[in-house]
Amino acid sequence: MSNGRRSSRWLEQGGLDGFLHRSWLKSTGVSDESFRGRPVIGICNSWSELVNCNVHLRGLAEAVKRGVLQAGGFPREFPVMSLGESLMKPTTMLYRNLMAMDVEESIRSYPLDGVVLLTGCDKTNPASIMGACSADIPAIVITGGPMLNGHWRGKELGSCSDCWHYHEELRAGRITDGELTEIENSLSRSNGHCMTMGTASTMACMTEALGLTLPGTAAIPAVDSRRVQAAEATGRRIVALVEEDVRPSRILTREAFENAIHALHAISGSTNAIIHLIAYAGRVGIELPLSLFDQLSRSTPWLVNLKPAGDHLMEDFYYAGGLPAVLAQIRDLLHLDELTVTGQTLGDNLDSTPTEIIDPSVIRARSEPLEPRGSLVVLYGNLCPDGAVMKISAADRRLLSHEGRAIVFEDVHDLAARIDDPELDVDADSVMVLRNAGPVGAPGMPEWGHLPIPSKLLRSGVTDLLRISDARMSGTSYGAVVLHVAPESAVGGPLALVQTGDRIRLDAAARTLDLMLDDAELVRRRKSWTPPPRKDTRGYRQLYEEHVLQANDGCDFDFLRGTAPVVTDVTTYL
Ligand code: FES
Repeated sequence: MSNGRRSSRWLEQGGLDGFLHRSWLKSTGVSDESFRGRPVIGICNSWSELVNCNVHLRGLAEAVKRGVLQAGGFPREFPVMSLGESLMKPTTMLYRNLMAMDVEESIRSYPLDGVVLLTGCDKTNPASIMGACSADIPAIVITGGPMLNGHWRGKELGSCSDCWHYHEELRAGRITDGELTEIENSLSRSNGHCMTMGTASTMACMTEALGLTLPGTAAIPAVDSRRVQAAEATGRRIVALVEEDVRPSRILTREAFENAIHALHAISGSTNAIIHLIAYAGRVGIELPLSLFDQLSRSTPWLVNLKPAGDHLMEDFYYAGGLPAVLAQIRDLLHLDELTVTGQTLGDNLDSTPTEIIDPSVIRARSEPLEPRGSLVVLYGNLCPDGAVMKISAADRRLLSHEGRAIVFEDVHDLAARIDDPELDVDADSVMVLRNAGPVGAPGMPEWGHLPIPSKLLRSGVTDLLRISDARMSGTSYGAVVLHVAPESAVGGPLALVQTGDRIRLDAAARTLDLMLDDAELVRRRKSWTPPPRKDTRGYRQLYEEHVLQANDGCDFDFLRGTAPVVTDVTTYL
């Protein structure tokens, strides 16, 4: 009866169960010849018309199916929840773990031998990978690819770095409403995810550096025919992965994560990647302390000149050589023996993939880095005992060693009400603090950390300000922004104790962030602190607030860490 594959327990068995499974499958128009004796490949599709970044994934799924059929598999596409960064409120991060549960349980409950994950917008990639890690059947990712570059009046536009930039120009009175509408119409020219080195692009690169997608595919533009060809190759490859029984747990080792962290620093990727990589590691039982990101930052050069930290966009990155060219430059830092979805090691992949730098203005040679060290740093101090994160490449250097007077905003509503108040007591040396914006407090840790600069400062020429919060920041944002303060204020982290007028000191070189108060004063304030009431008392959102971990632990749910692999013998379920 069984050929050893998991799906055979559904489709090859005798009796009433086998009859029912086959008969209902045949109602979709497939015959025995389509599926008998073939591995069943799930195509886990986060396509949605509500998620512009993923709207082309149905077409990409057709290419994956062609590849699966070419290799002798039986493809079955299925939908999962999708998370669209621009339309979904209050934040897609609130739902990343829910989508991960959808992916995991869909894999677990259906007769799948392997799965292709089709991802695009920011959280659809980590959610899919987290779910596949826990289910732990052979899996491979094909990302949707970045949009083409935006263009406006001779300038290149990147989403969404230039959204923030030109909106600030409008608030400063330097462009008109009509010009902003022109920019709105010029920014998003094609299918695909945001084309700066924001979170979606960063997570696509992380997927490639970890070895979960075919080499050289992270940066291919969404509408380039080579992405469709890569999807077809991905379909062929998953069938082989099933035969080789290469599961995520064999690929995602501590060394593979270290490779990804080196790549993250070399590309100056999104701060959000730190949270997602820690969450992946938690799924496969690996400790990935926040301090490791800082440790590896010190030895990794920053090589990729893309917005928001640099000048170019993902389309340019692809033409310049893409991630393989970057990995080749830092080859000596990488663990080259790590297995990847090609069935070969990372070192073998680099030997068999073009790694030349085509345009050194986009990808720098190791000998001429943009900076000798990485740009994501981890801060500790009495304001963030469990850590905070800062992307120093995107900040005004003046503010990297800075002491200033705190202006505290109780929550995002308080911020919105007062930020442009002409009476707001703020100057270029102030430190803006936002609290109740973390995983529990918001809830969902939205991308509110890029606090807007008050209009009156913008009009006087101020372009950056030190800002601190327990929120995240869009990977496309920039500025002197300290994020992910842990523990967050809503669970009693020291951010809850800051008062307007306190002094705060940042020393990025020393990796410290401190509230300039003695311990006795902090103890006194803590005695009078009461936690804010929880916002949700039913449903998924209650579950979220009760079980979400802090940022330094990846914001996964405590009960979702680890794997619960599906097994080949599923007869107990039949
Ligand atoms: Fe989807 Fe930016 S809105 S990646």
